[in-house]
This record gives sequence, structure tokens and C-alpha cells, in this order.
Amino acid sequence: MKIDKTYEGSFHIVGGDFSHAGEASTELKTILLSAGVEDEFVRRVAIATFEAEMNIMIYATAGILRYTISPEEIRIIAEDMGPGIENIELAMQEGYSTAPDWVREMGWGAGMGLPNMKKNADTFRIDSVVGEGTKVEMIIRR
Ligand SMILES: Nc1ncnc2c1ncn2[C@@H]1O[C@H](COP(=O)(O)OP(=O)(O)OP(=O)(O)O)[C@@H](O)[C@H]1O
Ligand SMILES: [Mg+2]
Repeated sequence: MKIDKTYEGSFHIVGGDFSHAGEASTELKTILLSAGVEDEFVRRVAIATFEAEMNIMIYATAGILRYTISPEEIRIIAEDMGPGIENIELAMQEGYSTAPDWVREMGWGAGMGLPNMKKNADTFRIDSVVGEGTKVEMIIRR
């Protein structure tokens, strides 16, 4: 599959369902690799989507990760129903985490997910409404 048009897809993510941790980002990685895109691009997409899907799994009730692949870029929207983020500026700081102990015991909760999404994306946007949910939009260019 060569990328000659636009491909769209989505993954549903259920909060707390760690048996499927990393599945969305792994599947997207497979799609991109089979399309023959550059490793470096695939790497950035995989990191950004993994962090997005894990945040939904850890903090939200449920969410959806949508992607649109075009020849030049990928657009990712990760949207959830969940508690939302009270202070986005604080949440964006490296090392800031409210992850509970049981999440840290699984090896997450370093407070690096959102900063890493921003670092790996060319465009990064986050919106959140407390008590409703969070929406992360990213564009990663080849
Ligand atoms: N989808 C979300 N819903 C509610 N809160 C969130 C969401 N995503 C992030 N947060 C809040 O922002 C904080 C920082 O998120 P970030 O992904 O940077 O770090 P982390 O998830 O705590 O740790 P790491 O991603 O390194 O495993 C989280 O601890 C949490 O308080
Ligand atoms: Mg995280």
C-alpha cells in the first residue's frame, strides 16, 4: 500500500482495560510500516499515539482515537469521556503526574506522556472540560 490518497480509521479505548494496552498504537504502526513510510515518522506517530491511548486507558472512562493518513501527514484526535484536566499548564509539565500507585507499579506515571506527545507532534492541541473529558489533536508531518 503506497500512500496515494487519504486513509481514515479509529480505535475505541476502554478505561482500565490494560489487557489491550498499546494495541491502537501498535496497529497504527503496522499500517504505516506496510505503507512504506519512513521509520522516523512511524516512530514519532507510535510514541504520540501510545501516550494518548494510555492516558485514556488510565484516566478516562472511555475514548476514541481517530486518525487520518494522507501522503504528507497524519492527523490524530484522541477524545475521551472522563474527569478532564483542571490545570492543563500543570499537566503539560514534565514530571507532573496524578497517577495512583497501582499505575506506577505497572511502570507508568512518570508525567512524560503529554510532553512527549507535544515533542513528537508538529502541531499539538489539548482541550479539556472538567467533568466531561479531554481532547488531544496532533498533526505529525513526514
Ligand atoms: N485523558 C486524560 N484525562 C484526565 N487527566 C489526564 C488525561 N491525560 C492526562 N491527564 C492528567 O495529566 C497528567 C499528566 O499526564 P502525562 O501523560 O504527561 O503523565 P502521566 O500519564 O501521569 O505519566 P506517563 O504518561 O509518563 O506515564 C496525568 O497524571 C493526569 O493527571
Ligand atoms: Mg500519560
